[in-house]
Amino acid sequence: MKILILGSGNMGMTYAQGFLKSRIVKADQLSILCRSYEKANLLSQSHEGQFFSDPALCVPESDLLILAVKPQDSDRLFEQIKDFVEPGQVFISIMAGVTLHRIRTALGVEKVIRAMPNLPAQIGAGVTAFTSSDLVTRIELVMVQNLLSTTGKTLYVEEERMIDAATAISGSGPAYVFYFMQAMMEAARKMGFSDSEAELLVGQTFTGAVDLYNKSDLSCANWISRVASKGGTTEAALKVFQDTELHADIIAGAEAAEKRARELGQ
Ligand SMILES: NC(=O)c1ccc[n+]([C@@H]2O[C@H](COP(=O)([O-])OP(=O)(O)OC[C@H]3O[C@@H](n4cnc5c(N)ncnc54)[C@H](OP(=O)(O)O)[C@@H]3O)[C@@H](O)[C@H]2O)c1
Repeated sequence: MKILILGSGNMGMTYAQGFLKSRIVKADQLSILCRSYEKANLLSQSHEGQFFSDPALCVPESDLLILAVKPQDSDRLFEQIKDFVEPGQVFISIMAGVTLHRIRTALGVEKVIRAMPNLPAQIGAGVTAFTSSDLVTRIELVMVQNLLSTTGKTLYVEEERMIDAATAISGSGPAYVFYFMQAMMEAARKMGFSDSEAELLVGQTFTGAVDLYNKSDLSCANWISRVASKGGTTEAALKVFQDTELHADIIAGAEAAEKRARELGQ
């Protein structure tokens, strides 16, 4: 199987490295299309696949093509590659908001998968929601799932609208977590901790709490009740969160992200 990644940015190179590290493909089966000859030349020294800047030299011979440019660059990319695509090729798009319909009509292809990874994919700890057009076979879907799993966990969704929902939850989600961490670090510094002490306390608290959650069958509510004793310090904090409707604000924020994802897809 020959794989071509279109776009050599953060996500494109994350996939290239993930595929090679997991030995799912060898370097001579992996190609990466760059925007410029200079960048292709520079990245060739990394030996993380074969780098091209001319679509005519790499698109026709590929079995599976991963579209990994920014959504605003998608139209230009479609124009550049549409004359070189072949009917049996399978396309995976990770571009936020670019619909299956848009990709199929712009390229005149039928087998398209739309996937939404997230930033922890960079360390193999991501989660990717994906869906597909009707003509992608079961075998092709399993192959794609294996590829996406090289960057973390996967979730297949039947309906394309759930990709917008996943964009709002897991795609944007790391930023929500960083936002909460940032506020807690600020609180720690206000109480007298140095920057590095605040980072240690907050970073390890998040890692430890998430590990604990993942290794147990308890719900978040169960864990909260184990930390918060009646009349204690945690309860005092939770009361403020309740009074300021933080919980509802987080839900409203995620819903705004989902709405924006839908708008971008139109
Ligand atoms: N980053 C995330 O956490 C994340 C999460 C989920 C989904 N995504 C999606 O992943 C996609 C890529 O994001 P990213 O963070 O990897 O962006 P990025 O780092 O900016 O990478 C995009 C790459 O595409 C290249 N490119 C643009 N037009 C091209 C063309 N016509 N031919 C070949 N290469 C071209 C750019 O080249 P230059 O280097 O020359 O500019 C750049 O290297 C986006 O659509 C985004 O929605 C990203």
